[in-house]
Amino acid sequence: MQSITERSLQGTTVLLRVDFNVPMDDGRILDDRRITAALPTLTYLHEHGAKTIIVTHLGRPKGASDPNLSTRPIAARASELLHLPVLWVADIVGEEAKALHSVMQDGQFAMLENVRFDPREEANDPAFARELASLADVFCNDAFGAAHRAHASTAGVASYLPSCAGLLLAQEIRVLTSLMTEPEHPFIALLGGAKVSSKIPVLESLLHRVDAMWVGGAMACTFLKAQGLGVGTSLVEDDQLAQCQSIMDYADAHDVALHLPLDVVVAPDITSGDAARTVDVTDIPGDCAVFDVGPRTVDAMREELASCRTLVWNGPFGAYEHAPFEKATHRIGEACMSCHGTTVLGGGDAAAALEGEPCIAHFTHVSTGGGATLEFLEGRTLPGIAALEAAPSEVVHQQ
Ligand code: 3PG
Repeated sequence: MQSITERSLQGTTVLLRVDFNVPMDDGRILDDRRITAALPTLTYLHEHGAKTIIVTHLGRPKGASDPNLSTRPIAARASELLHLPVLWVADIVGEEAKALHSVMQDGQFAMLENVRFDPREEANDPAFARELASLADVFCNDAFGAAHRAHASTAGVASYLPSCAGLLLAQEIRVLTSLMTEPEHPFIALLGGAKVSSKIPVLESLLHRVDAMWVGGAMACTFLKAQGLGVGTSLVEDDQLAQCQSIMDYADAHDVALHLPLDVVVAPDITSGDAARTVDVTDIPGDCAVFDVGPRTVDAMREELASCRTLVWNGPFGAYEHAPFEKATHRIGEACMSCHGTTVLGGGDAAAALEGEPCIAHFTHVSTGGGATLEFLEGRTLPGIAALEAAPSEVVHQQ
């Protein structure tokens, strides 16, 4: 795969796919981490004299225009962060977009409207991919967060243009590949989240690589039940009990320390934070559900984390959006600060749960991918990356 640094860019028009799918509230950007993470690529393109046409999706508009999901405020924020103008274009492959390459100056930026307003984007329609390709001379993909989607602007377009990886995409691939291929040991994985069924492939993939794994979040309850413990009214996926048992058997047979919570925070329901209490996993009341892991569990983790050389964390350990069930996730974040090796935090919910916490700055790498990071750690080939590897070296001309 070619890197952006290997291309001569002066005077070329670059179609830059980014993942600026940021959380918004009424036109206000709540968290601009995904925009700041792409600034090195944007700055590089500017300094090397490219005309950069920025493409992103925002939300899931299902192929129709939705004023609440317009990229206009995102172009404004990108412009603020870059201290440079970012021209916003109200279409995707319409006349205004098609004229950009002739009206833009070298080093200038423009941003297209939300690419998912066109139903052909998610369908990975080849004609739409060709139209996107016709806007530029080169395709640069910096959208790691969307690399698991085989869409026209993440994958299809790379069939028609010489293509390269942006600095963020390259960095994500480098860090995550090193976890998968040459981690320093001891290597510990922290895996949380609600549904164990969605985490089985990553559990299996990481179990072959780590020395220890801690399982938290509601998904730990299916493991606890598989061990024969009562879990009250907690979320349990009964059809995954056998799978959880076989994961525990595999860990046992291969000397991987698979840790489940020692204590948990329970309540009658998720909105009854006032009634929350901590109990041992052997004492979960029949009329309560587990919403967080307890302090004894975090203390035991802290000891192990202090001596590990590589750490990867995916998924929150409690129902962090409802106080007080964010506590363990925040304390685990603090505990990660004692690890002096490589520390990687998956994007998505774990990063959202630690947003604003001082620990976030201490991670070696905070991924911008949620689903993409998960699929990468599962060992899957991401379509956005595969498309770059297979891209042509010259423009494929329109028929
Ligand atoms: C994400 O937020 O994980 C990416 O932007 C992909 O979004 P999607 O799940 O709507 O495809």
